[in-house]
Amino acid sequence: MIDCHCHLLFGIDDGPETLDEAVSMARILFKHGFSTVHCTPHCISGLYENNPVIVRDRVTRLQQALDRAEITIRLRPGMEYYLDARFSEHLPDLQPLGESRLLLVEAPAWAGADVIVGNIRQIVARGFVPLIAHPERCHLIAAPGQGGLWAKTRSLFGRAEPKPAWDLLAQLQDLGCLFQGNLGSFAGRYGKIVEHHAVSMLEAGLYSCIGSDSHPLPGLDEMISAGLEAVCRLNSNHRQLLSASRLLS
Ligand SMILES: [Fe+2]
Repeated sequence: MIDCHCHLLFGIDDGPETLDEAVSMARILFKHGFSTVHCTPHCISGLYENNPVIVRDRVTRLQQALDRAEITIRLRPGMEYYLDARFSEHLPDLQPLGESRLLLVEAPAWAGADVIVGNIRQIVARGFVPLIAHPERCHLIAAPGQGGLWAKTRSLFGRAEPKPAWDLLAQLQDLGCLFQGNLGSFAGRYGKIVEHHAVSMLEAGLYSCIGSDSHPLPGLDEMISAGLEAVCRLNSNHRQLLSASRLLS
């Protein structure tokens, strides 16, 4: 399997703090069958000031450590870009996923559709394909006018039936976007509403790939197990989704 979204690099975002912690995470990914992992640290101006040089340097150092530990995972560089008002600062030097033209991007929780669509247009104009990370977790897409305490209360009682903003998703698709779902969403890591959206989007055929979005959180091993089990149970096309075979190999 190929992981297209993973916070495995150490010391540059909210991923592992140390090299040893990164190696421990890689051991879990390898155990579950991942043979290639795209390292996609956050790139958020003012918070995680990453660039392609920093990412490639960390990938080289971590790959050497994995080789020494005989963990046969091939690491590839990537980034998870935050589509906020300062995203355009990164346009001159973008880091896609490996050798592909895919650019992993994340919609900020607060952002309006105009900010997201404007940034998407700039990415496409430069010849990249925006891969929108976990749309099932994006407030604008997944909780249009249905967030807040009411949605959380309904979620607690298992009566969450909100609908994603299919019209916005269709607009983004028309602009050339692809979509990536999170294993943790299917595992219920982010609550019932997100799980519900993830299943809806999977059934609608929205996703081009599924990624782990791994962070060094307690229960990472169990989250990956549960997510893989759910995706394989829900979708006969799971092998393609989990290898991103049409996109990255
Ligand atoms: Fe992420």
